[in-house]
Amino acid sequence: MRIDIITCLPKLLDSFFGYSILQRAQQAGHAEVLVHDLRDYTADKHRRVDDYPFGGGAGMVMQIEPIANCIRKLQAERTYDDVIYMTPDGERLAQPLVNRLSLAQNLIILCGHYKGVDERVREQFITREISIGDYVLSGGELAAAVLSDALIRLIPGVLGDETSALTDSFQDGLLAPPIYTRPANFEGWTIPDVLLSGHEAKIDDWRHEQALARTRARRPDLLGE
Ligand code: ADE
Repeated sequence: MRIDIITCLPKLLDSFFGYSILQRAQQAGHAEVLVHDLRDYTADKHRRVDDYPFGGGAGMVMQIEPIANCIRKLQAERTYDDVIYMTPDGERLAQPLVNRLSLAQNLIILCGHYKGVDERVREQFITREISIGDYVLSGGELAAAVLSDALIRLIPGVLGDETSALTDSFQDGLLAPPIYTRPANFEGWTIPDVLLSGHEAKIDDWRHEQALARTRARRPDLLGE
């Protein structure tokens, strides 16, 4: 999967993709994340990419010209499955959407700033608008990083244990059950006996019960309750 992120604050994203699983995924050739500085695509001598809103009002608006230049350059080089705009008024991100998008080959993600982008960008270039939650961030960069992380970890081969993404919370519509590791007894705090029983079927049953109980207690909406 190739992800092209368009932003006017590229430095914000550099460190995020340079560590851990995301870095390894790129080194192993599973994913490629390219961050594009919107300011490289403006003809403005001061490298400005925003301007005042027509009709007045507070806040600045990201201009269409540099965004169009950047998206068109990328689209001339390859075909993109989606051109995504991160925005609080987009479709709320959840695991089913992540699963679907993880099958894409090439994605563009545009990060918004200031008051947002000129509406014509959304009408003419954007194929999908995504929000990571009902709150407003100061820019779309963190949201783009969240989406990219959720996508890249689903690419086959990225996680060491292929099954581990399948047992994530939400993958089967339930929250994940509790997990434990050594020592089995820490200062008298022990772990459920069943996990030491070696009885796989019993352990599976216990995990399922725990996942159900946790989901019922914390997210009954996932069970339609
Ligand atoms: N940009 C600002 N807030 C956002 C949010 N909640 N989701 C996606 N992009 C955003």
